[in-house]
Amino acid sequence: MDAAIVLTDAAATAALGARLAQALDTGDIVLVDGELGTGKTTLVRAVVAGLGGDVQAVASPTFTLLNIYPARIAVYHVDAWRLTGVGELRGLGFSELAEGGIGIVEWAERVAAAFDPPTCWRVHLRHSGDGGRRATVTPPLGTTGLPRPW
Ligand SMILES: Nc1ncnc2c1ncn2[C@@H]1O[C@H](COP(=O)(O)OP(=O)(O)O)[C@@H](O)[C@H]1O
Ligand SMILES: [Mg+2]
Repeated sequence: MDAAIVLTDAAATAALGARLAQALDTGDIVLVDGELGTGKTTLVRAVVAGLGGDVQAVASPTFTLLNIYPARIAVYHVDAWRLTGVGELRGLGFSELAEGGIGIVEWAERVAAAFDPPTCWRVHLRHSGDGGRRATVTPPLGTTGLPRPW
């Protein structure tokens, strides 16, 4: 796993999402894990923004289990916290939809069995005790990883 990335504030989380967006391509899956409030949705919003989508639309899926954001590459977003499990994820057709765009899963560890994690982007977020967050980003096996920070 790559070294931890220091995210001192929400803007830093958003900058990480923008970098990630640059690296993503059709068919990619992003598994995002981290406790409540660690910035998962903030990251998703920044990925959608980086892909030219409408960020206003991005929130943890509350009334719908699956959110779809039109963008240069469509983004399919689920928050597994709201799902009963892998069966419900499959029922949404998430994996099939994501083949035609980018799939992003919050609380992915709850539905890990639905994925082959080494082929996915994996982002772990955590509270860092100083009010900020730390991230580790693991690219899919055999890919080059995140572009350099700017
Ligand atoms: N690196 C960071 N440092 C401090 N606050 C952050 C950071 N990243 C995000 N936040 C803030 O944390 C709060 C929770 O973010 P959110 O994305 O909703 O988390 P989650 O989806 O993991 O529950 C928001 O107020 C957000 O602005
Ligand atoms: Mg969230």
